[in-house]
Amino acid sequence: MIEDLEEIAKEYKVIVRDLMKVYRRGQKEVIALRGMDFEVRPGEFLSIVGPSGSGKTTLLKLIGALDRPTGGSVLIDGFNITLLDDRKAMMYRRLKCGFVWQMGNLVPGLTALENVKLPMKLAGARKKPTELRAKALLENMGLGDRMNHKPHQLSGGENQRVAICVALANNPELLLADEITGELDSETTAMVMDELRRINKEFGTTVINVTHNPKVAEYADRVLRIRDGLIEGQKHTLYGDISEVDAKGRIVIPETIRRLAGIEKRVVLKVTDEGLLISPLKDESESGSQKQQHKEPD
Ligand SMILES: Nc1ncnc2c1ncn2[C@@H]1O[C@H](COP(=O)(O)OP(=O)(O)O)[C@@H](O)[C@H]1O
Ligand SMILES: [Mg+2]
Repeated sequence: MIEDLEEIAKEYKVIVRDLMKVYRRGQKEVIALRGMDFEVRPGEFLSIVGPSGSGKTTLLKLIGALDRPTGGSVLIDGFNITLLDDRKAMMYRRLKCGFVWQMGNLVPGLTALENVKLPMKLAGARKKPTELRAKALLENMGLGDRMNHKPHQLSGGENQRVAICVALANNPELLLADEITGELDSETTAMVMDELRRINKEFGTTVINVTHNPKVAEYADRVLRIRDGLIEGQKHTLYGDISEVDAKGRIVIPETIRRLAGIEKRVVLKVTDEGLLISPLKDESESGSQKQQHKEPD
């Protein structure tokens, strides 16, 4: 089945399709993303959780056009941003998409206020509104009395909050956050997350927030779990943990469930009144006869 992506794109802010990233280190290849598929609605607040090394940062970098995929696409408002040249990718990051990662991204020689003003200046905004907006952003993050401090005069948590203000400076439609509360105490974490949620609600900013912290993940409308470069599932308000069936019909069955159900390498699929029954294939010789049955006609 071929998807009509143009049609689907009308409904979603972000569409990730077949996204693959292979890193090469000398002779060694690391497959960080294995053909990932998912969508994010406009104004949605999405959390992404997953073990270390599962591909979260790689994914965010590709959505933020900070790196190029090995294959697949990222559509923002129906537009494939993986095909942008360097200059257009820079404009995309400057105007449409804000990015914050754990160890901030501030210019060391500039004060907090100057750091927040910088992206607006680069985008050609006028002086007065730039000043007002930068101050308002910093005040809302509880940094009203820290505006004229440089990064080295601020704590880790304060720098992190300044970095969030920098990412929000040009009022991006999409905010990407990578473990931004990792270094913050619980009180500051709650404050930062409340502020992100407020911005999401007030301006309709679409947020994708990568986190390790289950409490932080709960700020979202939806939590996606990823593992080994694929979507494993998500949390559902009614059903708890649910699995995703991706655009190619693939489903990742979590290891705990596989173990409980005795599922190993092959399964039998059976459609029942209740839905789909997935049971372990016990007798390997059966798999031979099944293969024969499914042989393509000559
Ligand atoms: N620049 C890189 N070069 C080589 N391998 C990388 C690079 N960046 C990430 N990886 C590898 O890709 C995988 C996914 O990494 P990453 O996206 O950082 O995961 P996460 O953010 O979930 O911890 C890991 O195995 C990591 O070692
Ligand atoms: Mg990471």
